[in-house]
Amino acid sequence: MDKVVRKALELLEGARHVAVLTGAGMSAESGVPTFRDAQTGLWAKFDPQQLATAEAFAESPSRVFGWYVSRLQTVRRATPHAGYDALVRMAALYPDGFDIITQNVDGLHSRAGSENVVELHGSLEAFRCSACREVFSTDRVIELGEGDGEVSAPACGKCGNFIRPGVVWFGEMLPREVLERATQVAYEADVVLVIGTSSLVYPAAGLPDIVSARGGRVIEINPKATPLTPRVDLYWEAAAGEALPQLVDALQRTEGGKTEGRND
Ligand code: APR
Repeated sequence: MDKVVRKALELLEGARHVAVLTGAGMSAESGVPTFRDAQTGLWAKFDPQQLATAEAFAESPSRVFGWYVSRLQTVRRATPHAGYDALVRMAALYPDGFDIITQNVDGLHSRAGSENVVELHGSLEAFRCSACREVFSTDRVIELGEGDGEVSAPACGKCGNFIRPGVVWFGEMLPREVLERATQVAYEADVVLVIGTSSLVYPAAGLPDIVSARGGRVIEINPKATPLTPRVDLYWEAAAGEALPQLVDALQRTEGGKTEGRND
């Protein structure tokens, strides 16, 4: 067994509550571009960090709306990779608590079959009025355009203001109940796996520190080191789709061994 897998098993040994914090890198192998990697196609000339703001939407609603339609279509075409399936298998090994906190808005964890997913930054599938918050049908958004350029933001049927994506933009507050749930998960976790996030954006980036401050363990899976890396118990330099199946296969073998022992 790989040294890094062995070390991860050691850190997970005896854990009852496991938390997983994911970022855009979790979906990279499913073909969903990350935020800080270069964008492709028509959107390559825009910085996602500038498109994902209320200021950008105020300045050019059709550009920002078009970008979200394009992302929605990318995500709908994407399929969760083997790392997602591994997290579904892993949950079954931790009946006392296995929670996923994701910064992603792509819904891939739930589509893969994971339960207990906290979507910190909202969802690409949820559109609403920017003023009165009236819900707007995502199917109608899809009908509005091909998503390969600007798409006029529709008007709210109730108050006439622009419809916007139901995501948390830079500079916006996270919904209180969502942040409370994520914080509670961090307080309960014996181990947190931090996967595919640049660990630059707070409050998400602060959650692993809550776990370690209470004596919990932090395992980071990312092909590139991040500002969190110097503080983790194990840095696994790998892609999510490679590392997670290896980890969960090894965990299942260990669990299988225990089960056989108990049944003897
Ligand atoms: N497996 C694991 N990690 C990967 C992979 C992969 N296959 N590919 C890339 N990564 C890592 C990168 O090394 C990087 O550290 O994923 C991270 C992606 O970073 P970001 O694009 O910054 O995404 P994230 O950290 O999720 O961004 C946080 O910022 O833009 C806002 O609200 C947006 O939710 C987003 C938040």
